[in-house]
Amino acid sequence: MTWKMNSNLDKNSMDFLRMKMKNGYKLEVLFALKKEDRFVSGEELCKELNISRTTVWKIIRELREEGYQIEAVTNKGYHLIDSPDQVTEKEILPCLSTRWLGRQIVYLSSTPSTNTKAKELAEEDESHGLLVITDDQTSGKGRRGRSWCGKPAEAIAMSFVLKPKLPPKQMSMLTLVAALAVSRAIEEVTGLENDIKWPNDIVIQGRKICGILTEMSTQEDYVNHVVVGIGINVHTREFPDEIANLAGSLDLYTEKPVVRASLVAKILDEFEKLYEEFEQVGNLSFMKEEYESRLVTRGENDQVRIIRNQTEERIGNARGINDEGELVVCWEDGQMEPVMSGEVSVRGLVAYATHL
Ligand code: BTN
Repeated sequence: MTWKMNSNLDKNSMDFLRMKMKNGYKLEVLFALKKEDRFVSGEELCKELNISRTTVWKIIRELREEGYQIEAVTNKGYHLIDSPDQVTEKEILPCLSTRWLGRQIVYLSSTPSTNTKAKELAEEDESHGLLVITDDQTSGKGRRGRSWCGKPAEAIAMSFVLKPKLPPKQMSMLTLVAALAVSRAIEEVTGLENDIKWPNDIVIQGRKICGILTEMSTQEDYVNHVVVGIGINVHTREFPDEIANLAGSLDLYTEKPVVRASLVAKILDEFEKLYEEFEQVGNLSFMKEEYESRLVTRGENDQVRIIRNQTEERIGNARGINDEGELVVCWEDGQMEPVMSGEVSVRGLVAYATHL
């Protein structure tokens, strides 16, 4: 028998070789078990990988210690029943279909902020597409200087590095690209309908599930790098009092707990596709319709309060976005005006009544 190695991670790929150096045959055994939803005999594993029975046994024991549930039956072999909910490269890479995004993964069991770490690593030459992910983000950063908190292993906190070929003025659109990627991925992996609150929050039943923080380093008319940071509440059931009525998590709306690695991989898949199109087109015309269909605050009856400079307030209706990703607002006097993210904040009056 020949292992049908996951097509996304074939035996000769650099990712595989790099991981193999760190893990020996453990990854090959794991991928072999992951591929087959059946018992795989010890003999098959030994023959295919050219390793001894003792090595197979040792690896199975180690995997179990790491939280993998592996059933072992005499004369049948080993069957992988369940994998731990980890966001390590071992769990993410087998689910990933991208060509370049997330092919280098830096997993940290704890770090102050994945955005900060990703910005540091972005200085290196080969960092386009590099993903930084952690189980425990201790000083997460939010938009407008706010903080972003989460308990260990309950959330997704990840950031990836991009080295775009487009000028800085186009970079604010990337945040909408990321929002659409996350929205699609949540729907595909969990089946949950979700909405985008312009420009880039994801909400479910009016509660914020995901926030995105995009940071950029530029030189005059040139982008050195962009870091897209994504925070998703996954397993959280209790939030601090200040946000208890505003925040939600995916598990609150699903029957089964969400597997974080699958969602991370799907976000990267979706983002890579959208990003490549965005780089070619140079604006958001190619995704405008779909983005608008997911907007929470849109339409004649859906009023929004637009706040400029934290004090000036004006009521209008959000009519959608333009090709540059600005929110097109129709004011009460009938005048239409595009407003830019960063310049204003938007609060829904009906569908999304929150101060977040
Ligand atoms: C917001 O305020 O809505 C944006 C929150 C962004 C949080 C994410 S979590 C991963 C990444 N690292 C950070 O420090 N922040 C972003």
